[in-house]
This record gives sequence, C-alpha cells and structure tokens, in this order.
Amino acid sequence: MLSEAALIWVPTEPVAQALAGLAGARVQVHAPDGPDLPPSAADVEFYVPPFFPRPDAVAAMERMPKLKVVQTLTAGFDKVRPHVPAGAVLCNARGVHDASTAEWVVGATLAAIRQFRYFAAEQAAGRWSYRFTDCVAGKSVLIVGYGSIGQAVERRLAGFEVHIRRVARTARAGVSPVSELPDLLPEADVVILLAPVTTQTVGMVDAAFLARMKDGALLVNAARGVLVKTDDLVAEVAAGRLSAVMDVTDPEPLPPGHPLWALPNVLITPHVGASTPVSARTAEQFVRDQAERYLTGQPLLNVITGDY
Ligand SMILES: NC(=O)c1ccc[n+]([C@@H]2O[C@H](COP(=O)([O-])OP(=O)(O)OC[C@H]3O[C@@H](n4cnc5c(N)ncnc54)[C@H](OP(=O)(O)O)[C@@H]3O)[C@@H](O)[C@H]2O)c1
Repeated sequence: MLSEAALIWVPTEPVAQALAGLAGARVQVHAPDGPDLPPSAADVEFYVPPFFPRPDAVAAMERMPKLKVVQTLTAGFDKVRPHVPAGAVLCNARGVHDASTAEWVVGATLAAIRQFRYFAAEQAAGRWSYRFTDCVAGKSVLIVGYGSIGQAVERRLAGFEVHIRRVARTARAGVSPVSELPDLLPEADVVILLAPVTTQTVGMVDAAFLARMKDGALLVNAARGVLVKTDDLVAEVAAGRLSAVMDVTDPEPLPPGHPLWALPNVLITPHVGASTPVSARTAEQFVRDQAERYLTGQPLLNVITGDY
C-alpha cells in the first residue's frame, strides 16, 4: 500500500505556491483564526503558523495529534514555543530576515541621527527649515545580540566609519559577554538590541541599563518590545536625555494615546523590519527546503533545542 502524502498547513497562497510539486506532500492553506478547525487538522504533520501568529493560530497546534514539525516564518518564536506539543520539533527562520532587518536597523539609525523625522514634518508643512544635525560617522555602536542579524548589521555599517562593539550571551574573539554590558554601555553612542526573548533578556533594558547609557545616546530596538521596560524608557526619553528608534514595542500594537507616540525624539515603525519582498521570498524558499528535508528524512535546519 502506498503511504499517504504528508499534510502541510501553510498560512498563505504564496507559501503554498513555493511548495508546489513537492513529492509526498499535500499542501493546504489554512491560518487558524477562531476556535473552529477543519477536520483535516487531525492529519497535519508540518505546520507553518502565520507570520504574526494570533492566539488561535498557536492554540491550534494542540489539536494536531500527528504534528511533527512547526516551522515559523520568523526568527523570533516566543509566542509559538509554549504551544508546540510534545513529539513535534520547532524550527525558526533564523537567517531568513537578516537582510531586511539589518537594513531597517541601519536606515532607522541614520534617520534618527540625521533627524529625518523633523525634516519630514517640515516638508509636510511646506517649510524650508535648515538646521545642523549630528552624524553617524565617528560614533561608537554597541550591538547587543551579535547573532545572525547583528552580524548583518555590522556588514552594512562597514562603510559608515563607526567603531563597533559586540555583545552576546557567550564571549568569543571580538565579542564581549553580557556580563560586560554595564562597562560598555557608557561608551556607546548607539545601542542596538538584537537579542532573542529569553528569561534573561525580558526587561533587560530597565532604568539601570538606561541610566548607564551616555547622555544623548540612541537606543535602537529591532528585537522584541519586551526586552525594554517601556515606562523606564519613556522616563529617560521624555527627559530628553536619550532618543529611541523602535520597530517593536511593549505593548504591541502600541495603543492610541500611549506616551511614546508623542515624544519628538522617538521614531516608531509598526514591526515592519522583516516585512519586505526579499524576506517573504527567502522565507518561502526556506519553508520549501525544510519541507523537502522532512519528507526525505534529512536533518532539519534551525531546530530550537536550547533557549533559542
Ligand atoms: N524587527 C523584526 O522584524 C525582526 C526580524 C527578525 C528578527 N527579529 C528579532 O531579532 C532577534 C535576533 O535574531 P537573530 O536571527 O539575529 O538571532 P540569533 O542569530 O539567534 O542571535 C541572537 C544573539 O543574541 C545573543 N544573546 C542571547 N542572549 C543574550 C543576552 N542575554 N544578552 C545579550 N545577547 C544575547 C546571542 O548570543 P550567543 O551568540 O552567545 O548565543 C546571539 O548572538 C530574534 O530573536 C527576533 O526576536 C526581529
């Protein structure tokens, strides 16, 4: 008897198209968005949750008894992991979003330091408002979380005449351990957060962290909002001592009327770092490669075993 094709659930038509023609696969587009699931949930072996997984989309995994692989479209997986059932492995999309997210970091840093937000507002008002601004060249940049995206940021900053310091969980040549952060923070003009969500990193940017940052320094958050204690950041930024650019916030979405919206030295984008055609295409190809690996019994990539 022929074995049945493995059922793969993907969240969008483009991801399904990327899997077209994959031998041994039966692909359905389904992004759970409510408590009701089609009966085929019982047969799903390989599940790709939506890019921004809502609670129903992750809770659905608990009703997939044959589930073997959960493949996220994102590098972060903090919302998904608690719901991955025993017997299934979780794989993230580490590497897939490096170009887009690193580009956001560099673009947002330049925009903040060259005051593009101010000039855009003046342009909208039809005013030629000349002013002198600061400059990225000569700055000291501290990358907190020197992983896949952190390294991509450094490659992109190579021509900007900056001095780069790196921090990771574990020390290695050219990379300082997280225990040295208190000594490195006072030296940095720009602090870029690119660490994952772990028990160690949630709330790591608190009043003490911010107090060690240099007067006039810029905090760049492209990681996750929960790394930063928002009230502590609001206090420092409202006092005018620090500036911030953030693609991610806590809470997210940032609600109307939140104090962060009104601060002139804050630039906020709505979690768009990896929302580009390059990221989408790379993610679709990565899902195809992973599904092929699963179907042909090869080792999967990006299997999450430890903290991240
Ligand atoms: N804004 C967006 O749209 C967007 C897009 C993609 C990703 N992200 C976020 O970016 C994060 C990083 O992605 P990635 O692919 O670069 O991850 P990665 O390759 O796993 O790198 C994570 C880095 O963080 C370091 N780290 C871990 N704990 C730390 C701590 N307590 N203090 C300082 N550094 C610590 C790790 O150290 P070791 O090297 O020693 O392990 C590693 O260098 C993701 O987890 C995700 O949340 C956001």
